[in-house]
Amino acid sequence: MTVRPHPDPAHVAALTAREEARFLTEGPRSAALLARARTHMPQGVPMSWMATMHGHPPVFVDHGAGAWFTDVDGRRFLDMNQADLSVNCGYAPPAAVRAIADRAGRGSQFMLPTEDAIWCAEELARRWELPYWQFTLSASGANAEIIRLARHATGRDRLLLFDGKYHGHIDDSLVMLRENRVVPELAGLGLDAAARARVVAYNDLAAVEHALAPRDTALVFVEPALTNIGVVLPEPGFLEGLRDLTRRYGSLLAFDETHTQVAGPGGLKRAWSLDCDAVGLGKSVGGGIAIGAYGMSEALARHLIAPPVVPGAPMESVGGVATGGTLYGNALAMAACRATLEAVLTPENFARTARLGARLADGIDAAFRAAGFPWSAQRLMGRSGFTFAERPPRNAAEARALARPDLHRLLRLHMANRGVWESVATAGPTVSIPMSEADIGFYLERFDAFVAALG
Ligand SMILES: Cc1ncc(COP(=O)(O)O)c(C=O)c1O
Repeated sequence: MTVRPHPDPAHVAALTAREEARFLTEGPRSAALLARARTHMPQGVPMSWMATMHGHPPVFVDHGAGAWFTDVDGRRFLDMNQADLSVNCGYAPPAAVRAIADRAGRGSQFMLPTEDAIWCAEELARRWELPYWQFTLSASGANAEIIRLARHATGRDRLLLFDGKYHGHIDDSLVMLRENRVVPELAGLGLDAAARARVVAYNDLAAVEHALAPRDTALVFVEPALTNIGVVLPEPGFLEGLRDLTRRYGSLLAFDETHTQVAGPGGLKRAWSLDCDAVGLGKSVGGGIAIGAYGMSEALARHLIAPPVVPGAPMESVGGVATGGTLYGNALAMAACRATLEAVLTPENFARTARLGARLADGIDAAFRAAGFPWSAQRLMGRSGFTFAERPPRNAAEARALARPDLHRLLRLHMANRGVWESVATAGPTVSIPMSEADIGFYLERFDAFVAALG
């Protein structure tokens, strides 16, 4: 095989300009809606990421069904990112739609438990092998409560996080390393959160031990595989090493499985037989309805149970820990979650997405080989990222050094103009539950065309 050099940046820029012009020309109704929307919403969107994450104006959506959605201009897209995996269950999964309609017709929110909540907690306990569960409205909400619970349980303040992580919109974890100092990651965040966190490189157990040694860390929070800087897989022994070190230094260990839950029932914790004190979830366990959930050990749950509820005490003081929200654990979310776990996120469906994920990664590798580029696909069950480099990165610094934002931008536009939506192109494509062999073939044909165009 002749190995080609990286594509010429000028060629990539010219292709990108052509693809972007086509993409915008083919979306006149979205453009008109955006012009109207700007009057009352900053940047014309209800949530700012919608305007900023693609590098071009957003499309307005009409509807979605299964693995596909349709925009207001009638363009159909095979969705390979599923709104950052928040609908990996697919759009409008029929079982969830029926349960949601039924529950909505009988009242969606009571600030009281429904029986569905028991079913969901029982099922999640079985899948993640953690006995106690609580529900929020998002993974951010779940992770924020894990952090508070850990601080309360250990009497310590510090968090240990990993460079390249994302755990949601929480001040405590929206921090990053800059010139070896921990600083707020975005504007509007207090400086004090950064002072309470340490950030070290993924896959570096020596750095973890050094950070835990002062014995002031409440919680080590980690994704079992980093998923917000492409995919970075743990090296053998890394996650087990975290368990040993957290035990040795009296810290708690939580896995954020918000994204890695697409690996199977019980996420990577179950797939890789891992041990931890808490797990944070969200996104597609709600079948498209807002939800977050976290599971915890019995020892941790005790802090939510004692002291007993004092009649007349303010709600937020139950158990002493600052948890809860008016709509958390609402009847609609619990009904949607139950139906989704029961009928959509089933072991059989996860086994299928893992098989299709392997086919996807094989196809990506084949496209790179055929074009002579020395690049490689990554494999994480249904999720198949790739690096524009010969070997995958082992931490965020390596991932940043290998990143080719210009190629990812071109990929997004090239695919979108041919009916494939990759909202977060750097994430790599992920198989959703309703996808078929034909959908994977559809994606790979377009991926081949993208790689060929680079030559
Ligand atoms: C690993 C991880 N944790 C937590 C979150 C937060 O999820 P949400 O924005 O739904 O609260 C995300 C979102 O992308 C995530 O990737």
